[in-house]
Amino acid sequence: MKVGIDLGTTNSAVSYINEHGSPEIVKNSDGERTTPSVILIEDQKAIIGMTAKEAAAFQSEDTIQFVKRQMGNNSFEFPLPGTDQLIGAVEASAFILKRIVQDAEQELGETITDVVITVPAYFDDAKRNATKEAAEMIGVNVLKIINEPTAAALAYYNLEEKTTDQNVAIYDLGGGTFDISIVNIQDNEVKVLATDGDANLGGFDFDNAIFNYVADAFEEETGLDLYDDDMAMQDLRDSTEKCKKSLTKRDKSLVAVSSQGQTIRKEITKTLFNDLIESYLARTSQIMEETIGESNLTWNDITKVLLVGGSTRTPAISDMIERLTGIEPSKDLNPDEVVALGAAVQASSIEPSDQDSRHHIVVRDVNSHSLGIITGDGQNPDENSIILERNTEIPCERSKSFVTVQDNQESVMVQVTEGEDEDPDYVTIIGTSEVALPDNLPMGSPLEINIAYDKNGIVHVGAKDLSNQVDLGEFVIERQSNLTQEEYEERQETMLAMEVE
Ligand SMILES: Nc1ncnc2c1ncn2[C@@H]1O[C@H](COP(=O)(O)OP(=O)(O)OP(=O)(O)O)[C@@H](O)[C@H]1O
Ligand SMILES: [Mg+2]
Repeated sequence: MKVGIDLGTTNSAVSYINEHGSPEIVKNSDGERTTPSVILIEDQKAIIGMTAKEAAAFQSEDTIQFVKRQMGNNSFEFPLPGTDQLIGAVEASAFILKRIVQDAEQELGETITDVVITVPAYFDDAKRNATKEAAEMIGVNVLKIINEPTAAALAYYNLEEKTTDQNVAIYDLGGGTFDISIVNIQDNEVKVLATDGDANLGGFDFDNAIFNYVADAFEEETGLDLYDDDMAMQDLRDSTEKCKKSLTKRDKSLVAVSSQGQTIRKEITKTLFNDLIESYLARTSQIMEETIGESNLTWNDITKVLLVGGSTRTPAISDMIERLTGIEPSKDLNPDEVVALGAAVQASSIEPSDQDSRHHIVVRDVNSHSLGIITGDGQNPDENSIILERNTEIPCERSKSFVTVQDNQESVMVQVTEGEDEDPDYVTIIGTSEVALPDNLPMGSPLEINIAYDKNGIVHVGAKDLSNQVDLGEFVIERQSNLTQEEYEERQETMLAMEVE
């Protein structure tokens, strides 16, 4: 059985293709359509979902939340209560995946062997790799990693009976990430024209904006520091999210916080809330403008703006989008479910079974980050030299020639970068590899470096000695942000040893 999984910052969902050939959400064992991406570790057990989310208020030290924000960040570690072991973002995600796959297997009465997992379009190589590792850790085969807005476009495509040639914009603002994609949809094809985003902007930041406002007011009015009180902090975190959600429906809402014997109540009006989140909205609108430009279209060419992600329920978002594009955003699709539904559509179009046969869709996506390498002659400052431009259709491969800087140079240190700037300080170094060179190359010998994105948006690098026309092969990038094989196996063992429910 194949399923599509939306592994979200705050909520995750699973979908499959039902007997009528339509994507459908699989309920979890609590009967819910989404599962909070929260982990509670207790008595050598990992409890995932609503129970864990509810426990977070009283047992914040035993819970892990917002794991997705830490994907690809190797220095993030969470101590496993009751042991001297640590777990990282990959294992934490594996716990979440295990619960939702286990539940789906029970609900569907079948073993899940293959999955399509969605990631924000703006996720970089390290984060994509980490996501793939998490799924492999629980023993499922990853058919493909696809971008969340692309999945949403697929779900929308699937709804349309007859699809005419049209361009849609997908605005996806979830709990932790923002993506915008401009997509062309035609018969049997969903083609992403341009994509951009921010991997650290979401509803969580809206909660924080209210949180900081109230915490500052508490300090000002009482002279006490709220940050000393873990319990009050977690309480306030919960009530700020509730406040934010109620401001979707109401014009004002009250937030109370008690700590160290003092209580304050603050009224948050919709106007104040809109002011507090103004800079985040402005950032998304600026990214939208850049992306429509990259797609070589204007907003007049767009027929629909699809809203994806729970945070798009905030009314100020629709207002901003309408002001910018002149289009009233569509509410045709459930913003919490559409990504998982699209992932199932994608899963069914990879090696389709009979049941899936009507899903013959070509998905053409692009990369969200340029790739390059750091070059230098040892005298001038190093430069980031872009080899593969962003918004190129994936899979793709590009090469560029460089020259050796010394006679008999034995090796070159290839530092692979992700980012748009010429200055190495403003790009991310994905990883480094030392490529051995053949003997006796004179200074100035040409070398070709080729960089590729595979269908999952994961990076591969190879080199060629152009003097002798010898292919030096693909080389393993020592990723700074990912686990070594040994670490991975060790952590998988720890993870699999625990019961998950
Ligand atoms: N009614 C509402 N009004 C405003 N915000 C809401 C509402 N309902 C949910 N949200 C917010 O939506 C966010 C969760 O959205 P969603 O479930 O789409 O995120 P996710 O898929 O987990 O995150 P991501 O896609 O960034 O990984 C939370 O920040 C939540 O507070
Ligand atoms: Mg999401």
